Amino acid sequence: MISAAGVDYIYPSGKHALTGINLEVAKGEFVAVVGHNGSGKSTLANLLAGLEKPSKGRILVDGINTRDKKDFLRLRKTAGIVFQNPENQLVFEKVKDDISFGLKNMGFTPEEIETRIAAITHKMGIEHFTSSFELSMGQKQRVAIASVIAMGPECIIFDEPTAMLDPKGKKDIHNIIIELHKQGLTIVYVTNVIDEVLAADRIIILENGVIKGEVKREELFDNIEHLRATGLETPVIMDILFRLKQRGINIVVKRWTIDAVVENFISYIDELKQA
Ligand SMILES: Nc1ncnc2c1ncn2[C@@H]1O[C@H](COP(=O)(O)OP(=O)(O)OP(=O)(O)O)[C@@H](O)[C@H]1O
Ligand SMILES: [Mg+2]
Repeated sequence: MISAAGVDYIYPSGKHALTGINLEVAKGEFVAVVGHNGSGKSTLANLLAGLEKPSKGRILVDGINTRDKKDFLRLRKTAGIVFQNPENQLVFEKVKDDISFGLKNMGFTPEEIETRIAAITHKMGIEHFTSSFELSMGQKQRVAIASVIAMGPECIIFDEPTAMLDPKGKKDIHNIIIELHKQGLTIVYVTNVIDEVLAADRIIILENGVIKGEVKREELFDNIEHLRATGLETPVIMDILFRLKQRGINIVVKRWTIDAVVENFISYIDELKQA
């Protein structure tokens, strides 16, 4: 779905923000991108969405070269991007206008636009929102995501979409992203909320504009010390199980949701009782 080969990006100021990026994201995959402030995550997100062009190398999104001006609309239709601050995404006062803007550009008829708006606002639970100015950050982020989904992309790149939200808002948006992935969308998820990476198939670690490593979800627990060595925080749930393991209590976990871990914990205790 996404293929980056030998990509460098240099800002007009001369700042070399990305170097030698090689990244393949398969259709339907959920890839998280983590890294310190300034490591190049947003630059990468913008390049993958085709908002900026590589200074060197090439990026293909579903076969479309992001440099190709004539394919820009097709690219927009294929890959959407959601920013950290929804206010950068919403330009109109009316929620409806924000959602219909991209659809108009894509040449949908007014009837088709109405139908799509009705469907998407219902799906996102935002049908009662009217003015973007009167919404909370979390509500604005829902509208921003709706305006991207309305275009029917196959892939969405999220650049720290929950950073400005409270815990409930974070959870809501995180669940929406998981749901979109379940529906078959390809997801690239830039995040600093370490617990959010647990939903990803793979985690890409960026450091100083270079891909420093990659960890598959099933390898996460075994790589916990390696992850910490790159300066990353590790999810609390994993830290607890890691400490228990160091104390000789090895609870095997396959899925890192709280419910799944509780089940594994109960099975472990049941086995102890029977032994
Ligand atoms: N418009 C710009 N002009 C010049 N340099 C920039 C610009 N935007 C970002 N940079 C630089 O490029 C590097 C990567 O920035 P980027 O925003 O991609 O990092 P990030 O990983 O998204 O950081 P954060 O976690 O703070 O969002 C940084 O050193 C930054 O200073
Ligand atoms: Mg950023």
